Amino acid sequence: MTNDNIQNQDEYIHNEELDQKLMDHDYDGIKELDNPAPAWIMAIFYITIFFSVMYGAYYFWFGQGPNQDEEYELAFAEHDVEYASQKSTEKLGLLTDEASINEGMATFQQQCVACHGMNGEGGIGANLTDGQWIHGCSFDDVYKIISEGGPNGMMSYKAMLSETKIQQVSSYILTKLKGTNVAGKAAEGEACQ
Ligand code: HEC
Repeated sequence: MTNDNIQNQDEYIHNEELDQKLMDHDYDGIKELDNPAPAWIMAIFYITIFFSVMYGAYYFWFGQGPNQDEEYELAFAEHDVEYASQKSTEKLGLLTDEASINEGMATFQQQCVACHGMNGEGGIGANLTDGQWIHGCSFDDVYKIISEGGPNGMMSYKAMLSETKIQQVSSYILTKLKGTNVAGKAAEGEACQ
């Protein structure tokens, strides 16, 4: 095995093509071939250098590009523009005017009484007149459970009812049903003011 290796090494060293590449230094019999990196690697290397110089000039020396803080501000501004319409839905809140409450009642009677009862006393669905709520009793909580739905048969209504309708029916529940304590389905969830 060792002998073979030595023979191979001799062949290697005396290969003509390699001889040409052999550089003229020799350290204890170890020689070096002149074997430069391929052009495409060098090209990438020089491009990165060029890029870094341009990058430095653009962002640091001439201060053209935005720095971290400026980028943060820009992203914020972009977000505000993109979600301007959703921002307005965040402002959905409790309605108290009679027309809206009546609209909410109409929706309730069409869509919800089968499970929640004519007076909100519950049945398949939870009692909406007591002080105990499974999913919370703030406007946002009630809006969310109607919009997104919940377990045990409470459907998601966001595809069936507009945001305004959900807003109205939520307002109806919170102003006209909650707190009337109609005997019906036993209280579930936690006490909620
Ligand atoms: C198919 C029956 C069904 C229908 C129809 C239904 N609900 Fe429900 N609803 C339920 C059930 C069941 C629950 C309790 C979910 C749970 O166990 O977490 C519930 C829970 C709720 C709650 C939360 C109560 C709490 O204690 O947190 C609200 C508010 C509500 N429904 C409103 C509505 C409104 C408004 C409609 C009509 C647009 C509606 N529901 C239609 C079955 C129904």
